[in-house]
Amino acid sequence: MELQLEGKTALVVASSQGLGKAIAQRLVLEGANVMITSRNEEKLKEVAQELSELHKGRVAYIRADVTKKEEIQRLVAQTAETYGALELLVNNAGGPPTGTFETITDEDWYQAFELNLLSYIRLIREALPYLKKNGGKIVNIASSSIKEPIPGLLLSNTFRTGIVGLTKTLASEFAQYNILINTVAPGRIATERVAFLDQMNAEKFGITKEEMEMRMKSAIPLGRYGTPEEFANVVTFLLSAANSYMTGQSFLVDGGMVKAI
Ligand SMILES: NC(=O)c1ccc[n+]([C@@H]2O[C@H](COP(=O)([O-])OP(=O)(O)OC[C@H]3O[C@@H](n4cnc5c(N)ncnc54)[C@H](OP(=O)(O)O)[C@@H]3O)[C@@H](O)[C@H]2O)c1
Repeated sequence: MELQLEGKTALVVASSQGLGKAIAQRLVLEGANVMITSRNEEKLKEVAQELSELHKGRVAYIRADVTKKEEIQRLVAQTAETYGALELLVNNAGGPPTGTFETITDEDWYQAFELNLLSYIRLIREALPYLKKNGGKIVNIASSSIKEPIPGLLLSNTFRTGIVGLTKTLASEFAQYNILINTVAPGRIATERVAFLDQMNAEKFGITKEEMEMRMKSAIPLGRYGTPEEFANVVTFLLSAANSYMTGQSFLVDGGMVKAI
């Protein structure tokens, strides 16, 4: 199977750690030219250095906060300027805070909308003129909450399903430009975000983080958390030339955790 990612230009959003970083790394290993981005310049510098030592595709970084419209406009324009094109876009962001309906304020709702849905819309809007030139691929990172709501993550449960509606609609609108767009939803992939959530839930239930992890893993048929590399492999396939006919779909990478059909 030929991925044909060598020399392709990719913008991977929220890529200073976790899933975004693993996707950026996989793309660099395949010879793509990758722009990484997050709010933390120091971390980006370190990751860019680490990825450039793979001696495969090129890597550069731009600091940007994706809740800010002007920073998204600058990010996309500078990515295209740096590499002379933009063909692949991976939308990703930090997770929203936890809470229940009675604790979440209007401000929380607005912030989660900006971070987890509006940022994807704005990134696609800015990238579209470049993607239209020779066709392109978009992958939107969501959460297993697109299939089964996660207790305590009301903001995620609400806005991630919005990503699915956006993806499905744009698959039809963008097909004429040969732009394929899909959603990939992690179940429990071992990143700092998941470690943080396990710690928080452990405190809530009065158990240790290790006990919390055991509980979570017992609900996963494969019996373990996924690795960021396993998640990145699926995203990379969808971005590659090997995916030429799947668009508008949602894919769970969850070790069988979600039981919904
Ligand atoms: N890991 C899982 O199993 C899992 C499961 C379900 C859903 N998800 C979702 O998938 C996404 C990625 O997960 P992860 O585990 O990789 O999370 P993570 O380890 O917390 O990483 C989040 C990334 O987002 C960046 N970021 C946060 N806010 C940003 C902003 N306003 N502008 C630009 N970048 C921003 C962070 O960088 P800076 O702090 O440097 O800005 C970091 O690079 C999250 O939305 C998470 O909720 C993950």
